[in-house]
Amino acid sequence: MTRIFDEDLKAGFGTRAIHAGQRPDPLSGAIMTPIYTTSTYVQEGLGENKGYEYARGKNPTREALERNVAALEGAVHGFAFSSGMGCLDSLMKMFRAGDHIVCGENVYGGTFRLFDKILQHFGLEFTFVDTRDAQRVADACKPNTKAILIETPTNPLIRLTDLAAVGEIAKKANAVFIVDNTFATPFFQRPLDYGADVVYHSTTKYLNGHSDMIGGICVTKRDDIAEKMQFIQNAAGAVPGPFDSWLALRGTKTLHLRMPRHDSNGRVIAAWLADRLGHERVIYPGLESHPQHELAKRQMKGFGGMISIEMGSKEKANAVLKKFRVFSLAESLGGVESLISHPASMTHASVPIDRREQLGITEGLIRMSCGVEEVDDLLDDVVQAFTK
Ligand SMILES: Cc1ncc(COP(=O)(O)O)c(C=O)c1O
Repeated sequence: MTRIFDEDLKAGFGTRAIHAGQRPDPLSGAIMTPIYTTSTYVQEGLGENKGYEYARGKNPTREALERNVAALEGAVHGFAFSSGMGCLDSLMKMFRAGDHIVCGENVYGGTFRLFDKILQHFGLEFTFVDTRDAQRVADACKPNTKAILIETPTNPLIRLTDLAAVGEIAKKANAVFIVDNTFATPFFQRPLDYGADVVYHSTTKYLNGHSDMIGGICVTKRDDIAEKMQFIQNAAGAVPGPFDSWLALRGTKTLHLRMPRHDSNGRVIAAWLADRLGHERVIYPGLESHPQHELAKRQMKGFGGMISIEMGSKEKANAVLKKFRVFSLAESLGGVESLISHPASMTHASVPIDRREQLGITEGLIRMSCGVEEVDDLLDDVVQAFTK
């Protein structure tokens, strides 16, 4: 199974981002990992090969990405998938009918849909709780609880979970603690340091950072989990192609350069919005008015570029969405370009309306992903959209 190069962990984050998991190509010395477009590998004899047999099991480009992200998260093993959802689906295959999983109530809409519309029919049992309150997570655990899964900060309500507190609860319950770290990235938050067993990402977002591929990845320090994931990755086969792996790997090389800019742009935009619209309508963990600002400062090194705003109604949301010129109306997030979206009809349309309303994903909520453009241009765009 894919294991980091131990010496990579001696390097700082930016050096890891550029080099971890990659070595000059043994054939040519190519500094950049080649895109190994092959489905199979020639073997010298029965049972004699160079460690590669068939590309669903292993591909050198994919392995470089797996080692790279594992090193960034401070993990030991990594497993890449064809999408964030493919990764989560494969993670869930570690469990069996009758197992119970405690899940954050505000997670990406596709996560809820996978659990609610598919996996529960295979006998997995889910309890959705407000993980802002760690006690609720503890209260939801049962003798058959095998995993606790959270997203922090959440999509789209930007709510946080106390990683250390839930890490303790998971340990006591003997449950696998799984964290979706897509929004924060390892640059701002390293859940494994707080007791998480598995961290996963939609690499489609900040890790790739250029909105040109779909992918997912999970990492872990635990050999027992890695063995299961290695088996599932090959047996279920939701693997990424070498070109997508390479695009994600190219993206992680600049993660440490992009994230501070997403963060500084996010802070400026959020501050202006809160001033103009009122702090209660603008959700950003970097604002002192965010109810979990202190927790954000404790477990995150920055607040990122994701901001949500309550506009009051779908009509008001639509009116303002149409005015943006630099921010583009589109699903997804985490790319170099700024995007704006309407979670109720886009990313969270698969969550039933009563559930959405109960959570606070209203028809009036809009979500901004601040890119890395010039902050003045982003601010001008926001100002004209909200004032004209
Ligand atoms: C937080 C989060 N996790 C997981 C996913 C799913 O990832 P993908 O779209 O790569 O399947 C998304 C997608 O938006 C997401 O926002």
